[in-house]
Amino acid sequence: MSVYAWFKGKGPSGFGYASTAEDVTAGLSLAGKTILITGCNSGLGFEAMQVLTKRGAHVIGLARTKEKADAAGKGMAGKVTGVACELSDPKSVRAAVETVKGLGVRIDALIANAGIMALPKLKQAFGYELQFFTNHIGHFILVTGLVDTLADDGRVVMLSSAAHLGAPKGGIEFDNLSGERNYRAWTAYGQSKIANILFAKELAKRLAGTGKTANALHPGVIATNLTRNVGLPPAVVSFVFGGIGSALFMKNVGQGAATECYVAVSPKVAGVTGEYFADSNIKAPRADANDPALAAKLWEVSEKIVAGLPA
Ligand SMILES: NC(=O)c1ccc[n+]([C@@H]2O[C@H](COP(=O)([O-])OP(=O)(O)OC[C@H]3O[C@@H](n4cnc5c(N)ncnc54)[C@H](OP(=O)(O)O)[C@@H]3O)[C@@H](O)[C@H]2O)c1
Repeated sequence: MSVYAWFKGKGPSGFGYASTAEDVTAGLSLAGKTILITGCNSGLGFEAMQVLTKRGAHVIGLARTKEKADAAGKGMAGKVTGVACELSDPKSVRAAVETVKGLGVRIDALIANAGIMALPKLKQAFGYELQFFTNHIGHFILVTGLVDTLADDGRVVMLSSAAHLGAPKGGIEFDNLSGERNYRAWTAYGQSKIANILFAKELAKRLAGTGKTANALHPGVIATNLTRNVGLPPAVVSFVFGGIGSALFMKNVGQGAATECYVAVSPKVAGVTGEYFADSNIKAPRADANDPALAAKLWEVSEKIVAGLPA
């Protein structure tokens, strides 16, 4: 246990910083439940898939390619259906929506887990900054495409990050979604992660009264493949994220996957919607992440972006 985990203890949910995905799902039977998760082949997504299948869920695991998704699903304790979904390619995301619909199942939880972080140089897809496009727009197409297949009490779970605190002033730079004006790696990541929260908030509003819910979360700081793009020498990454960091403040992968599993399946979260979680407890995000007008504007702009993408 890191020094920080010991210091932080547990919250009102009975879970906390040190709780693992195994802990938050202990004693639950997920037999008969179907859970979709993006980014199932690595880090937190892989760990969540492992634990959720162990509890009996059928996991629809999405990865950039079918090969990656199928390989990740091998050796899991329960049923996994692998589906290709390259989030930066709208055709691939739309095909994934059709493939999932074709399975004819009701989705009990959709965990939008995949993401990229802090690309050192500006990269784009269809003229939009790649973190915004992958982390937000890709998931926007996926989730809105599958919302009708959610179970009556289905849950949408958006992986955000405490890094949303570093989003630009005002939350989203609507006049710089290309990233071409003043690209900063962590600000762009922060913007994509505040977008994940705003999307969950607006979706929760749109789903109000249906029984379906949408929430966002920060999983903690965990050494995963996410650091691959930060552009630091591997020795520095390993020292910061693997050495001193783990001893002082970081979570292991089991602890990192806890909050997404908690929000996706715990009976304690039934009916809870429009919230932001960290350490398996409700927390307050940055003030403008709670701004309904900003959330509504992001939705409207996202719809326009998606409408302008190649069919
Ligand atoms: N680790 C942390 O400290 C931390 C902190 C805060 C928030 N988060 C969030 O937690 C989530 C999971 O991250 P992680 O730490 O588990 O990172 P990870 O090990 O790098 O896993 C990320 C997953 O996303 C997939 N992915 C990336 N780009 C994609 C694309 N264009 N299309 C489809 N899939 C794509 C990756 O696929 P490939 O393997 O094929 O690239 C991988 O499966 C992310 O949303 C991240 O922002 C993580």
